[in-house]
Amino acid sequence: MRADVTVRPLVESDLPEADRIVRVAFGTFLGMPDPSRFMGDAAFAHTRWHADPSAVLAAEHAGKLIGSNFATNWGSFGFFGPLTIEPEYWNRGVAQQLLAPTMEIFHRWGNRHLGLYTFATSPKHMALYQKFGFWPRDLVANVAKPLQQPTNSSVPDTTLFARAKPGDRLQLLAACREVTDAIFAGLDVQREVRAVVDQKLGDTVLVWDGSKLAAFAVCHTGPGSEAGSGVCYMKFAATRPGPRAQQNFARLLDAVEAYGRSVGAQKATAGVNLARREAFQAMIAAGFRAESQGVAMETGDVSSGYNRAGVYILDDWR
Ligand SMILES: CC(C)(COP(=O)(O)OP(=O)(O)OC[C@H]1O[C@@H](n2cnc3c(N)ncnc32)[C@H](O)[C@@H]1OP(=O)(O)O)[C@@H](O)C(=O)NCCC(=O)NCCS
Repeated sequence: MRADVTVRPLVESDLPEADRIVRVAFGTFLGMPDPSRFMGDAAFAHTRWHADPSAVLAAEHAGKLIGSNFATNWGSFGFFGPLTIEPEYWNRGVAQQLLAPTMEIFHRWGNRHLGLYTFATSPKHMALYQKFGFWPRDLVANVAKPLQQPTNSSVPDTTLFARAKPGDRLQLLAACREVTDAIFAGLDVQREVRAVVDQKLGDTVLVWDGSKLAAFAVCHTGPGSEAGSGVCYMKFAATRPGPRAQQNFARLLDAVEAYGRSVGAQKATAGVNLARREAFQAMIAAGFRAESQGVAMETGDVSSGYNRAGVYILDDWR
């Protein structure tokens, strides 16, 4: 029977319960012995809500929080997740009642392309998202590489966003936007860069070609971030297109590894859509291996979005 649900904005006092539901929903779906331990000390609910509280919806039943969905605005591109429902309410239409207003948020933002990441093996997930215009596209590999002990080696021509003078930060955000805009017009991840510095979740590694920004990676690291303890997770990375893209992407990976080691991370992780074949091959060449994979579901057709050969972007929309 369909559950009678109220959908409303998620407020700060909901966060502990929303975080618990995120863990038990995924942990239950994955068959973990203790579902509440899903993701260890990494977190999504707090980081994403603080990045943009107006982008998070709550489903309430009889005065009780039973699910939530987090939308993300990257300018011309939008995605949602984690979408999670308390397991005892599964298959009662709650996710659909959260997704309808989520689509209205995207409409308001005016994103011209939308996506999500999900379990490639789940017919239920496929069917649910198809109702809202998302179709399965490419596999996404979640890759990882062990990092050696800290060394003093630094990569030339790299800087960190959090070390920049506050007065220089607007210019750096504009430089990041110039790089992403050159790949997909209007793509802008400044919310991610700001969230990391404002919430102290890690840092954004910047790689320079003279005075021009060649590449950047928004890295989460440590407990309470989307990475968790001992991990340096590239939530988003992009390299300026052009003849030096491949070389600059390799420099970016070196710089991220150096940053990860400097903060004591034992492994670097990232997501890469397999349509971005050169980027994936470069990750493999740099010593990364796929740990798991999922599927990107997207609106539009195969030519829309930025998942195509030659694009040096890392992200996974989880
Ligand atoms: C995935 C999840 C969010 C779905 O929430 P939910 O409230 O159970 O979903 P709903 O009931 O709104 O919708 C499921 C729909 O899929 C349909 N469905 C299920 N299995 C199906 C199948 N094999 N083929 C076709 N349709 C199927 C259901 O019939 C239902 O549609 P209907 O209402 O028209 O009958 C929830 O199960 C969850 O929290 N899972 C764990 C976390 C997770 O995986 N999150 C999503 C990550 S991308």
